[in-house]
Order: sequence, then C-alpha cells, then structure tokens
Amino acid sequence: MLTEVTATRYITPLREGGSLPGLVEADDLGTYVMKFTGAGQGRRTLVAEVISGELARRLGLRVPRLAVLDLDPAVGRAEPDEEVQALLHASPGPNLGMDYLPGSLGFDPLAYAVSPREAGRVVWFDALVNNVDRSWRNPNMLVWHGDLWLIDHGATLTWQHNWPAVEAAAARPYDASDHALAPCRPDLGAAADDLAPLVTAELLAEVTALVPDAWLVGDDETADPAALRARHAELLLARAAVVSEAITVGDPTPARPPAPPGWLLAPAPRRAGEGR
Ligand SMILES: Nc1ncnc2c1ncn2[C@@H]1O[C@H](COP(=O)(O)OP(=O)(O)OP(=O)(O)O)[C@@H](O)[C@H]1O
Ligand SMILES: [Mg+2]
Repeated sequence: MLTEVTATRYITPLREGGSLPGLVEADDLGTYVMKFTGAGQGRRTLVAEVISGELARRLGLRVPRLAVLDLDPAVGRAEPDEEVQALLHASPGPNLGMDYLPGSLGFDPLAYAVSPREAGRVVWFDALVNNVDRSWRNPNMLVWHGDLWLIDHGATLTWQHNWPAVEAAAARPYDASDHALAPCRPDLGAAADDLAPLVTAELLAEVTALVPDAWLVGDDETADPAALRARHAELLLARAAVVSEAITVGDPTPARPPAPPGWLLAPAPRRAGEGR
C-alpha cells in the first residue's frame, strides 16, 4: 500500500507542469506535489506514475516517495485562480502525492555530470516503460542533495491507452536519441545485465498492486482491476526480456527555430478554379 494522507492546505500551483500539479501540505505535515485525478490527462497518467515510479525505485533509481493524497476541494478555497478551482473540484477523494524535494533544481547537463553507468540505468528503465517524456527539452529529472532524482512518469506505459498484442508492445522500438541522458554515453549493456533480472513477475505483482482500483478502471465500470494489473505486469515482464534490442541512440533532433507569427505568413495561394 502507498501511504495514505489527507491534504490540509493547498499552497500554490506548479506552473511548469502541463497538468498544473499543486503544492499541498498534508496531515502528516509533509509537503507534496499533487497530481489530480480530474486533470485533462486522465487517471491513466496516475496509473503510470505509480507503476513506473515504484518500479524505478525497486530497481534502485531515485524517485521521491509516492502517497495517495485524499482531497476535500474546500482546502483550496483561498486560491483565486479559476483553473485551479476547477481542477480541485474535479478531483475530490484520492489523488497522487509525490514528496516535494525542497531546494531541488531541474537537471541541467552543463551543471551536473551523470556517469555512463547511471545514465544507462535511467535510459534502460525509460525504454522498459516506454517513457516518451524525458527528452533534453523536458528532462523531468531533479538534482537534490547532489543526487539525480526521477520525476513525472505520467507519459509511460503508453500501451495502456490502446492495449496492443503483448508481443508487439514488448518489442516496440525505443528511440533514445533525444533522451536527456543520451549525451552521457549510457552504458546500456551493464544496465541490462543489472536490471533485467530484477524485473520478475513477483516484483511486477507488487508494484501493480499499489495502484488504487478507481484509477485503473477509470470511467469503465465493467473493467476488472485485477485483469488490468495482470495485463500491465505481463507486458512489462515480456518487455524486460527483449527491450535491450529495441533501444537505439542516434543523433539528437536539432532544436527547431521558433515558428514565425501567423501574420508574417503569406496567405496560401488560391488554386485555379477554387472559391469562385
Ligand atoms: N517532487 C518534486 N519536488 C520538487 N519539485 C517538483 C517535484 N515534482 C515536480 N516538481 C516541479 O514541478 C514541475 C512539474 O512537475 P511534473 O513534471 O511532474 O508535472 P507535469 O504536469 O506532469 O509536467 P509535464 O509538463 O512535464 O507533463 C517539475 O518540472 C518540477 O519543477
Ligand atoms: Mg514534467
């Protein structure tokens, strides 16, 4: 079970996050980053946060502690922002909390060196869970007390949005060219040797059991939470065995220049015979 605590105070929105997570205080006096069930990204992102985050932790990667945070939307009544109010009112009950790391800094490759060994472990893990959100544009890693911490696993386990055949998803290619740690010469061979044997059916049963039923089934009242847990576990077990061959690390995509404003663009030429 994840720790269960109750939010007592909404402190402020974290505007860097696309899902508008909130900083909240809870009845254990902890400060948490709260991810809301009512956010547009949906409850499956919270399923991904729990399964991938807890799996990463058990593989020895650093992830801030996760908790289930019970919310009474009234705790945010002093917050003037209407968007925040709407989010709180759409999210009564259990939401996801992540221990807030005070004073942490966003990962910057120029300021913090990551060894090939550590980079390899992060890239291998991200390939396993098909994390599409740890690029140099948005690293979703923090540096805290001199160590690298992984956050934001909402964009992992992408297959859960449209369950494909297990073999196809297990072998799905993972292009790590734009991964934030690709320039750190990730040692993928060592990572696979260390981590693949740890991804067992028992471990996957343990981490999938941590997800609250309501997040798994979403709005589908006919869905069976146990069957969904088993599906996640089966897919990750199959992928752990073959994912090393699915990873490629090529040249990163160059940053695109910002698009010119619309008023600078000439209107599209009218084709002969059109609009008459
Ligand atoms: N545990 C934490 N401790 C300190 N700061 C955090 C923590 N979690 C998140 N943050 C801060 O909040 C920001 C948004 O968090 P996060 O990336 O999890 O949100 P998101 O809405 O999923 O974002 P995205 O736009 O990447 O999808 C992070 O970039 C980071 O600055
Ligand atoms: Mg993020």
